[in-house]
Amino acid sequence: MNENLQFLQAFLKNPLKVGAIAPSSPELAAKMLEGIEPAENNIVIELGVGTGAITKFLRPKIPHRDAYLGIELDRHLVRSLQRNFHDLHFVCGNACDLYSIHQKSGLGKVGYIICCLPFVSLPNDVGEKILRQVDKFMDEGCTFRTFQYAHGYYMPSAIKLREHMRNRYGRSKRSKLVVKNVPPAYTLTWHK
Ligand SMILES: C[S@@+](CC[C@H](N)C(=O)[O-])C[C@H]1O[C@@H](n2cnc3c(N)ncnc32)[C@H](O)[C@@H]1O
Repeated sequence: MNENLQFLQAFLKNPLKVGAIAPSSPELAAKMLEGIEPAENNIVIELGVGTGAITKFLRPKIPHRDAYLGIELDRHLVRSLQRNFHDLHFVCGNACDLYSIHQKSGLGKVGYIICCLPFVSLPNDVGEKILRQVDKFMDEGCTFRTFQYAHGYYMPSAIKLREHMRNRYGRSKRSKLVVKNVPPAYTLTWHK
């Protein structure tokens, strides 16, 4: 199935969990992946993989199967990801269980978290739970990058995420607005 249609179908089924009507553009994917250099003992975790709009640009940067872990809640999307990227590890699971999913995977130390989760439309307690999981990796020297849509940038849950991260890891490195994305978005990066 066409990627845009597949994404739209997932959105219509679960708008709040998907949180966007179209997959990320190649321009946003490029910004999300700047400086990301995974290795077997510096792996990258991708949260909310969706249809793999970012994954397809990340794959050439992955030196070994064990340097990547993708986590996605929607089992239909996971099945399709496993077909399209058979050389990568995917887990159908909830980012709220991030730490134990990584531990069970037996994969190496986490160097990067690429987070595509729609914090603005997720329930508050879910967002908080996920950030507490992220903290466990940040303490070990991980880089965390996410994107926030311009129209939702000042929504309470978007501000809450930035405050949580700023209080622990300082000010984010924010990209220029990526206008070639529907909708336009900023990327935000923190490193302890
Ligand atoms: C905005 S889409 C991003 C998809 C893709 N990475 C992209 O950039 O086009 C968010 C994705 O996060 C997934 N998701 C939402 N809540 C999640 C959770 N708690 N754990 C794992 N995945 C989740 C949704 O199913 C959806 O595929």
